[in-house]
This record gives sequence, structure tokens and C-alpha cells, in this order.
Amino acid sequence: MEHQKILVVGSSNTDMVIQTRKFPIPGETILGGKFFMNPGGKGANQAVAARRLGGSVSFVGKIGEDIFGKQAMQLLEDEGINVSYVAVDPENPSGVAMITVDSEAENTIVVAPGSNGTMSPADFDKALQEFESADFVLMQLEIPIPTVEHIARIAAQKHKKVILNPAPAAELNDELLKNLHIITPNKTEAEILTGIRVSDETSALRAATVLHNKGVNIVIITMGAAGAFLLENGSSRIIPAPIVKAVDTTAAGDTFNGALVVALSEGKSLEESVAFANLAASVSVTRPGAQSSVPYRKEINLSSNSFPHE
Ligand code: RIB
Repeated sequence: MEHQKILVVGSSNTDMVIQTRKFPIPGETILGGKFFMNPGGKGANQAVAARRLGGSVSFVGKIGEDIFGKQAMQLLEDEGINVSYVAVDPENPSGVAMITVDSEAENTIVVAPGSNGTMSPADFDKALQEFESADFVLMQLEIPIPTVEHIARIAAQKHKKVILNPAPAAELNDELLKNLHIITPNKTEAEILTGIRVSDETSALRAATVLHNKGVNIVIITMGAAGAFLLENGSSRIIPAPIVKAVDTTAAGDTFNGALVVALSEGKSLEESVAFANLAASVSVTRPGAQSSVPYRKEINLSSNSFPHE
């Protein structure tokens, strides 16, 4: 089948992960468990998820002139992702994230954005040729927000569908929201965007309505194990997620977003796409790490008969 093309614009990091029974409190030193490194960054994770789940994917971001950045791009290329338009920052190191994961599968993440933080509209404009052929543009907030605004503006002018995963959480201006086709906050991000605390379906609807009234066509609020809340054309519902035993929730949101855009790029309905994204995210939380946890399409088939390989 003919897939529409996906452009992911965003960060790439090298994740340094320590597993620990509990998180330290400020000023405390604790002995943790295993240490491992694996490729991460919300942008690169989402590109990998979209690719492994069957999408036709290009990635645009910015790396430093160092081994971390080179390795990260080599890995994306090995996945079959086009990285020809990734910019290089000669002055700042590639992004790094220090992550701790506790025995409840929760994490804390501190990102040193490095070169991700210097990605400018001009850096993106060098990728305009790649952009022209994309149908979907998927972004997050680990690159400067003015760059995200610039990309969303030109994408909307060219009638491309922009999906924004507003992570890490930040307040966003109304012009950016108007240029989005879909926004996918989690509960915390939805609260920062709207001032409404999201705890259940009713509060999710209130928060989603605020975002919809500001011009976003479709609002999807991810609610962890409870699934995802969806508001489209005045109609809303929760699409439940499968129950799994989570070991590490890092990159669950990234897997959700990558999967969502793949399903949409195959012409699936929004509801089917969200269900597919829930399935993919639920597999990712059963294993450690960011890109190391992202499933392949055939693994989703094992979990569900409703999404045969295409
Ligand atoms: O969403 C998970 C990601 O957040 C990690 O891979 C880390 O690099 C940070 O960007």
C-alpha cells in the first residue's frame, strides 16, 4: 500500500539511564542498580517508532560535532530513516539525557539540550525540499519553540498536517495552536496548556475543549494506563489501552505519537489510529530504555489481530 510521507522534526539525545529502587531526594546520594546507554530524544524516538511501525520517515534535527551525535544519526539511518537534512552545530555538544527509572517504572529525566537547543528556523529551511514532499509533520518541544512555530506556520500554509506532542510541557501561543491539526498532551501537559487539572473523562473534555476552541482540530490527551482521550468534531471518547506490566515508561509517549502518525499515514480512521498507538505504547513500557523499547510492526500484530502488516 502507498504510505503518505512523515517528517519528524525534533531532538536527538543520548540517554544515560540508571535503574534505582527509589528516587533520591535533593541533597541525598543513593546507590542505584544497573546503568545503560541508549539512543533517545523525543524527536528521534518518535522517528524510530514511526519507522519501525511501518512509516516512510525523514528526520530533521541538529547534532553536535561529536561521537554521540554521529552515532545517533547512524542508528537512525540503519533503521531506514532519511537523515540527510540534519544540521550540525560546531559549538555545542549533541543532546544528552540523564534518566533514573524506579521500581514502579516511573522516571525522572534531565535533558542537556546542547545542539537541539540551537536549532533555528534557518536550520529547518535548509530541509525545505524534504518538507515539500511530506504529508505529516510531527514535532515536540525539545527544540526552540520559535522554530516549532515557524515550521507549523509554513506547514499550515502548505496544507500539511501538523501533529504536535507538547513535551516537555510549555505554554504555547494561540497562533501556534491554530496551525496544528492534532495536539497530543499528556495529563500534566494538558494542565499547563489550559490551567485545567485533568484527572478523568470530564476534566479531559474541559481541557480538550479549551485547546479545540483555540483552533486545534483534534485533541488527544494521553492518560497512561487508562488509554487516550480523543476529541474530534464535537464528539469525545476514551480509547482504552491494554493492561500490561510496565517496567519503564520512558518513550511511551514517543511510541504513541510515532504509531499514531503511521496509522494516519496509512489512511486509518482516527479512532483506529489511537487504538494502534495505545497498543504500541503498551508494548514499549514492558521493556527498558527509549529507542531500545520501541516495538516493530510485527510485535503489534502479536498483540492484536486488528492491525495486520501492510
Ligand atoms: O521521551 C523520552 C525522552 O525524553 C528520552 O529519550 C530523553 O532523551 C528525553 O528526550
